[in-house]
Amino acid sequence: MMEQDMQEILFTREQLSSRIKELAAQISEDYRGKAPVVIGILRGCFIFMADLVRELDIPQMTLDFMSVSSYGKGTVSSGLVNIKLDTSETITGRDVILVEDILDTGNTLSKLVEELGKRNPASLRLCVLLDKTERRVTPIQADYVCFQIPDGFVVGCGLDYNQQYRQLEYVGILKPEIYE
Ligand code: PRP
Repeated sequence: MMEQDMQEILFTREQLSSRIKELAAQISEDYRGKAPVVIGILRGCFIFMADLVRELDIPQMTLDFMSVSSYGKGTVSSGLVNIKLDTSETITGRDVILVEDILDTGNTLSKLVEELGKRNPASLRLCVLLDKTERRVTPIQADYVCFQIPDGFVVGCGLDYNQQYRQLEYVGILKPEIYE
């Protein structure tokens, strides 16, 4: 029923799950014998995080969450990230994998990476479901990317428009008339 609000379905549930499996195999390989902490950035991460961690074969990993808000989202060098919910575990000396739904301008994640770097993790890598490279304002690259996508208002699989559409099992592009 919400499909009528979509201009296009970018990735079906099947496409998402097969790509997530592929990426999870690569991450499992890279962290073999290690005990990373996988940190999901709420709220957008929740579906991707759940799908991903169930495919990871890293017995010693632990899971944690953060919530952040960026000021002046979408604007050039807004400068600040506000940590609304911090991790439960300390990350000092840990191998950290940050999980996000989307890397867009890069403003939020670059600031967060800078903040977390101050806590001296053993390593810090980024894993994102979607990467909108062409929208980048602050230079930052994810280490693990499920899909590169073109510009457009994407929703579903955790991504929202006005807090709606997060529960959709597919990733779709919203019809412009919905948000204009
Ligand atoms: C989204 C996403 C990233 C950020 C990416 O979060 O989860 O945190 O925007 O955008 P950027 O690369 O332009 O900084 P949002 O603020 O929409 O919160 P949400 O996760 O609760 O949806």
